[in-house]
Amino acid sequence: MTKFLLLCLSAFYLYAASSSETLFNGNCVTCHTPSDAAAAPTSVEMQKTYKKAFATKEKFVEFMATWVGKPDAKTALMPEAVTKYGVMPELGLDQATLKEIASFLYDAPLGK
Ligand code: HEC
Repeated sequence: MTKFLLLCLSAFYLYAASSSETLFNGNCVTCHTPSDAAAAPTSVEMQKTYKKAFATKEKFVEFMATWVGKPDAKTALMPEAVTKYGVMPELGLDQATLKEIASFLYDAPLGK
């Protein structure tokens, strides 16, 4: 029984870790690929810019989730990207989902 519970627990952790990546891949990667900045800044650039701007993961996630929930040229951290591509469209995702995605973007070993 204990073994079974442990198995369930580890399966859940694997699922939780990979599902935030799946959310990013499903909703963001079409525009934000790791290396091709044809349509939008790369995920690597975004991670770098946001990590420079926010000292903690909490602040990084909070700002990114709020901003992506309602993209606004006036508060963008990458104004040169707004000039180049136009402001990002609103995607209609809820805050819980956006926080998961932002948390993935903070932790993901991008550009390594
Ligand atoms: C249809 C294309 C498209 C999709 C899909 C998209 N983005 Fe963007 N995104 C853009 C473009 C274009 C910009 C650059 C202009 C800007 O900053 O508004 C941008 C900018 C950003 C920025 C930088 C904002 C700043 O502070 O300047 C973040 C962070 C971001 N996107 C996160 C996301 C996340 C997270 C998702 C998925 C939930 C996502 N984007 C999906 C096109 C897209």
